[in-house]
Amino acid sequence: MNIELIKNNLIDKKYNLIYKESVTSTNTVLRELANGESEFTVLISDHQTNGMGRKGNTFFSPEKTGIYMSILLKPQLSLQDFLLITPLSAVCTARAIEKISQKEAKIKWVNDIYVDNKKVCGILAQSITDTENNITGCILGIGINVCAPSGGFPEDIKNKAGYLFNKDENKNLREMIIAEVLNNFSSLYKDLTKKLFYDEYVSRSLITNKTVNVIYPDREIKCLVLGIDKDFLLDVKLENGDNLKLDSGEVSLILE
Ligand code: BTN
Repeated sequence: MNIELIKNNLIDKKYNLIYKESVTSTNTVLRELANGESEFTVLISDHQTNGMGRKGNTFFSPEKTGIYMSILLKPQLSLQDFLLITPLSAVCTARAIEKISQKEAKIKWVNDIYVDNKKVCGILAQSITDTENNITGCILGIGINVCAPSGGFPEDIKNKAGYLFNKDENKNLREMIIAEVLNNFSSLYKDLTKKLFYDEYVSRSLITNKTVNVIYPDREIKCLVLGIDKDFLLDVKLENGDNLKLDSGEVSLILE
């Protein structure tokens, strides 16, 4: 990874970039460094041995074909505003993917990005809390499958996972995408609570007007997605005709 190239392409110089060749998880390692590092420190790695996804899933993180990065944020936010960080980051990342790959990037509520109906990116925002459980920070992890993994994807994700390019061909694609994500993040994050990214999030939605399976810990229901409201709750219609608003913390979705 060419960190200098990323730096040279950043509009906003506030980011403190740290590079490690291989880590367990950039989220885990950045959390350990968080006390001593300033806000907007970004940990970037070429490889993760224990990449984490949401809901206890792993994130497949093969060497040098993907982006594995975490951004340290230290805002004082209510839980409701903290939950805006994921959709904001999804918009920043979708724009960056689209600009560099020239492929349309859609957002699968709430934190996945899809290109050509395959998941190419996942986002994991984890809170840092004080002894009274107030949110004092965020470790914002972004993982993007940029090039094809040399050994292919593992069996359990191979039908769902995708990538943006076959090969890098010395184009420094990962560096270009990281710089774009961070530049987009600078422009949107300062006004996080104004939700200026809402309309774009909605227009990039992959699942609006589609039927999805909603997975609760104890059951599964089929419903039609009507849209996404201003609080980023998912508006759905159940098969019995009832309308419901879904919270991303409670459910996972499987596309039909
Ligand atoms: C998901 O798909 O459920 C979220 C995946 C998030 C993956 C990124 S890769 C960088 C950062 N470090 C991690 O361990 N996870 C996030």
